[in-house]
Amino acid sequence: MKTGARRSVFAANWKMNLSDQEAEGFLRELRAAKLPDNAEVLIFPPVLYLTRLAELARGSAIGLGAQNIYWERSGAFTGEISASMIRAAGAQLVICGHSERRHIFGESSEMISRKVRAAQNEGIVPLVCVGETLEEREAGEAFEVLQSDTMSSLAAVEPDQSIIIAYEPVWAIGTGLTATPKDAEEAIAYIRSQVRELWGDIADEIRILYGGSVRADNIAELMSCANIDGALIGGASLNPTSFLQIIINGSNI
Ligand code: PGA
Repeated sequence: MKTGARRSVFAANWKMNLSDQEAEGFLRELRAAKLPDNAEVLIFPPVLYLTRLAELARGSAIGLGAQNIYWERSGAFTGEISASMIRAAGAQLVICGHSERRHIFGESSEMISRKVRAAQNEGIVPLVCVGETLEEREAGEAFEVLQSDTMSSLAAVEPDQSIIIAYEPVWAIGTGLTATPKDAEEAIAYIRSQVRELWGDIADEIRILYGGSVRADNIAELMSCANIDGALIGGASLNPTSFLQIIINGSNI
C-alpha cells in the first residue's frame, strides 16, 4: 500500500459521454462497491448530470467535479457556467486546462490561470492539466512546455495544497499509447520541482496525477513511482467495472 502524506487520487473524466441513465447506474454501482480507504475517488461527469449524481453520492466518499468553468461570476457569457453554479449543483472540484480545452477550444494558460483563481475563490478545488504534444516531445521541448504550462497556469494563484495537477502528455490521451512509468515519473518530478519554485514546500503536499491511456493493467506500475499520486482516466473510466479495477490495482501498491 502506498504510504506517505499524499493520498492517492483516481479521477474519472467522462468527457462528453454516457447517457443520464448510464451515469446514474455507474454511480450506484460505485457506491455499492467497497472502495479502498487510502484512495480518493472522483467523477467528472457532463455538467448536466451533476445535480442528480450529487444526490446519489451524498454521504459517500465519492467526490464530484465539473470538466470546465468560466471565470466570471455571472453576466452576458452565453453558454458558460460559473464556479458558484457548479458548486450549487454539488461539485467540489473542476478540471482546468485539459488538453482538449487547450487544443480544440483554444484556451491559453492565461485563461486557465483565471479559471483556477475563480474556482479557488468559490472554494472549488482545481485539477489543473499540463502536458506536451508529440511534436514538442520529439523536438526535445517537453520540459520547457511543462515549465511554461505549470508556471503560467498557477501564476497569480494563491499557494494551495489542495490543488491537484495532472500530467497528461497529449500524445497519450485516447491513443492507447501510455508514457512509460520512467518518463511519467521524470515529468511529474519535474512538475513538482516547478511547483516548489513557485510555492516552496507546499510542493510536497500537492497531488500530481498521470493521465493518458491509463488502464487496469498499467496502473500498478505507474503508481509504484514515488512522485505519481494517482491517475486521471478517460476511456477506461466509462465502464464501472474497469474504473473500479483501476482503483483497486492502483491502491494496492
Ligand atoms: P484517456 O484520457 O484515459 O482516454 O487517454 C485521459 C484524459 O483525457 O484525461
